[in-house]
Amino acid sequence: MESESSFSLQSLQTSFCYFFFSFALSFSLFSLLLFVLRLKLWCNCDVCRSYLTASWSIEFDNLCDWYTHLLKKSPSKTIHVHVLRNTITANPDNVEYMLKTRFENYPKGKPFSVILGDLLGRGIFNVDGDTWKFQRKLASLELGSVSIRSFAFEIVTTEIKRRLVPLLSSAAGEGRVLDLQDVFRRFTFDNICRFSFGLDPGCLELSLPISEFAMAFDLASRLSAQRALSLSPLIWKIKRLLNLGSEKKLKKAIRLINVLAKEVIRQRRKMGFSASQDLLSRFMGTINDDKYLRDIVISFLLAGRDTVASALTSFFWLLAKHPEVAATILNESDRVMGPTQELASFEQIREMHYLHSAVYESLRLYPPVQFDSKFSQEDDVLPDGTAVKRGTRVTYHPYAMGRMEELWGPDCLEFKPERWLKNGIFSPENPFKYPVFQAGLRVCLGKEMSLVEIKSVVLAVVRSFEIQVVEDNDSPRFAPGLTATVSGGLPALVRERRRSSSS
Ligand code: HEM
Repeated sequence: MESESSFSLQSLQTSFCYFFFSFALSFSLFSLLLFVLRLKLWCNCDVCRSYLTASWSIEFDNLCDWYTHLLKKSPSKTIHVHVLRNTITANPDNVEYMLKTRFENYPKGKPFSVILGDLLGRGIFNVDGDTWKFQRKLASLELGSVSIRSFAFEIVTTEIKRRLVPLLSSAAGEGRVLDLQDVFRRFTFDNICRFSFGLDPGCLELSLPISEFAMAFDLASRLSAQRALSLSPLIWKIKRLLNLGSEKKLKKAIRLINVLAKEVIRQRRKMGFSASQDLLSRFMGTINDDKYLRDIVISFLLAGRDTVASALTSFFWLLAKHPEVAATILNESDRVMGPTQELASFEQIREMHYLHSAVYESLRLYPPVQFDSKFSQEDDVLPDGTAVKRGTRVTYHPYAMGRMEELWGPDCLEFKPERWLKNGIFSPENPFKYPVFQAGLRVCLGKEMSLVEIKSVVLAVVRSFEIQVVEDNDSPRFAPGLTATVSGGLPALVRERRRSSSS
């Protein structure tokens, strides 16, 4: 009797699952149809056709290169991809308008915050309005302080001295090929974890260990970004509801991140946070809600890790092609530091205008955030006359902007640090023409910190090593994601730099 009733209960459960699954499937197909109709997925203009059939990939390696090509051809430097309901611009006047003049009309918007919501929660990167204003104020105050800057500098210097240089020396000694992109991702993950959480995952130890936390964080950012590639958000939402495939993996990765974050916060509360310098401890003084604290700190991890690794990867890719730039950086550093000093001080780095220009120039050609989107709240007209309907995604495109002749002259595709120098002194550009760190009211909060980090690494590497990139492609092929990542990494041979005895 008991087995009969458990059998009927089982079959009832199975029928319910079938019913639920069929219902979810029909619902998703129906919603997909609505989505298709709403987004005019049948648009037959050249751009949309090329996008839908992926025929752009016959001529271009990367989507960003195709968009650049279209934007260059457009007289207003603005284009529309109707099927994505996306207006894309490389016009600095439009960029200033959306990031400053009519900032309130161009929030990140719900479509973005929903995609990253499970990973980032209510963290600064993922919110608008008052929640954003509150965190922005708090974070600006902390990041603007001298004490946090020297804390960050100390972390970076230690990581260079104890891990990066020994790893490069060991690879040089063994003639081993290293994937520099992987090295930089490990380097920046160690740094940003120590900076944000006061926790050292040790990813750049000589054995290049596998960190469960780094892997979970990687997977969670990648899978969250992949949601944006779904034809309709309903697809991933239903997968999430049914805990299937990539959504199941994402949930597991986020669970691991949460367990770790919770444990760090618990420990910190127990031990007392007032003596610690990391961001978490600093925010603990103002915020009591542990989930909110977790969200805030995770946003920093996402913002500060891959961006810097991406900047370093493209910098060394360019440098390998331009030994004359490496030689000028070396000369400048010798002049400021002398030939034997190992690591530069904060003040010495500030004196190196050529180095600063070389980093800016590399970021112009290869911005880590190649494009960035907002969603228009109301119907609007951009300064170039482009009409924008409410709910339209409006994207500014730093990658394309760095390649516009109208903005940078006929040599815009060349890597020329000198273009940033006036009488040997670095001369900045209008930030809306160069929105690599965004610009306006939501400009990157880690800009100064990341520049010091990048320059410290460049100096340490260039002064002691020569880098030879193994696969010498004309231009990098990027993997899809939130930040520019080179498919296949940056395999390189490292050699100790021989200094002439006179230097
Ligand atoms: C080369 C390195 C970096 C680049 C190119 C970069 C670029 C950007 C960009 C384009 C944004 C705007 C994103 C958006 O609103 O959608 C941004 C925001 C932000 N960045 Fe960075 N970033 C870099 C490094 C860092 C670092 C190291 C940190 C932290 C320590 C950081 C913290 C932030 C934060 C907190 C925001 C959000 C600001 C806000 O919404 O008010 N960034 N960054």
